[in-house]
Amino acid sequence: MNVRISQISSSVGEQVTIAGWLYNKRSSGKIVFLELRDGSGFLQAIVSKSEVSEETWAAAESLTQESSLKVTGTIVAHPKKEGVFELQVANIEVVHIAAEYPIALKEHGPDFLLDKRHLWLRSKRQWAIQRVRDCVIDAIYDFFHQNDYVKVDTPIFTPNACEGATELFSVEYLDEGEVFLSQSGQLYLEAAIMSVGRGFDFGPVFRAEKSKTRKHLTEFWMMDAEGAFIEHEENMEQQEALIKHIAKKCLENCATDLALLERDVEPLKKMLELSFEKLTYTEAIEKLHTLGSEITFGDDLGTEDEELLTKDSPVPVFIHKWPKAIKPFYMKQDPENPDLVLNNDLIGMENAGEIIGGSQREDDYEKMNAAIIKEGLEGPEYEWYLDLRKYGSVPHSGYGLGLERVVRWMSGAHHIRETIPFPRIINRVKP
Ligand code: 4AD
Ligand code: MG
Repeated sequence: MNVRISQISSSVGEQVTIAGWLYNKRSSGKIVFLELRDGSGFLQAIVSKSEVSEETWAAAESLTQESSLKVTGTIVAHPKKEGVFELQVANIEVVHIAAEYPIALKEHGPDFLLDKRHLWLRSKRQWAIQRVRDCVIDAIYDFFHQNDYVKVDTPIFTPNACEGATELFSVEYLDEGEVFLSQSGQLYLEAAIMSVGRGFDFGPVFRAEKSKTRKHLTEFWMMDAEGAFIEHEENMEQQEALIKHIAKKCLENCATDLALLERDVEPLKKMLELSFEKLTYTEAIEKLHTLGSEITFGDDLGTEDEELLTKDSPVPVFIHKWPKAIKPFYMKQDPENPDLVLNNDLIGMENAGEIIGGSQREDDYEKMNAAIIKEGLEGPEYEWYLDLRKYGSVPHSGYGLGLERVVRWMSGAHHIRETIPFPRIINRVKP
């Protein structure tokens, strides 16, 4: 019977076949220990010279790291470790003997590993991180479908900028001239929710950002959510509920992955029982001053400021109502202070950094038109966006979550490049 390693606990005592790869091998004279992986898990297989044919013994000896194979044998419970199983091998069918594998099971430098990313993905930590990523994606879909949101896909080729003109990748689009790779589906999602009421998108976005940090990619996956008749405070409530849902699912479904990654799960568990903290931008600046920062009102928050503001916090911190002058054109003015906007960043604790950016959107035609002109964006590309303020305009809000930032946080990965299968960072687009 063919089984996957994740299912073996229900096959104890039975003869099964596992198809996979050789992760590691040790031998001690008449016994060879094969560490197998099949994508669903890892399993130790024991080959005893006295119990197998000469061919199988020779096969076991010939296997190199990452050779592919099918192993048949009996599943037995580990003599000492509860919940751990092993395979007593009866037969080995070699599928392919791997050439000398460049990634040994030891420390390698990051550039070497990134050059070999197509192989590095097979390593235990990388395998576990991709599984956490899958869990986060699943949790996001789940949350929105439970909350009556419709998935609406937004385009990647776009004639207009969403998040400022300086970080755009441009592409020659056939005979139409220059277009840009999307920085966020938000503007299109605003159009779509005037049809479906509440919507979300999920796809790759692009930022020609020259930031070389542990939290920046040039291509990353963004989930944008948008809701008609949702205002600023409710927008933040939803973000909190989403983050808690994601953390809860990771704790439930990725316990073994998080353990393998040596991710201390206590802070996530604790977070689930508490409310997130809320500071206005103005309060955040004051708090930073008391913590010794020299930031001035009107500056964007840097990584160090984010770390200071969340340093001893057991929960993520909302920083809301920022100065209008440093935020994109589409954010709605704070009715209590025209210099501020009804927006928020959500900064994760444990140095996760900014994981969500959101806002209530300007819904007044004249104000939006003025904001577009002020940014120098007027022209036919924004006419459709202005139309939304012309035909049944409604208060509406939304936010964008950076998938890899959240995966980095949940998995405890050091660098964001480990959280996406093939990272694109400022100096790397290969393999
Ligand atoms: O804060 P941002 O720029 O917001 C927007 O793009 C809005 N249009 C979203 C919306 O309201 N629908 O980006 C949203 C999130 C950030 O909070 C961060 O988590 C992530 O995207 N992000 C990045 N992740 C990886 N690498 C980068 N270079 C990122 N830039 C932003
Ligand atoms: Mg932001």
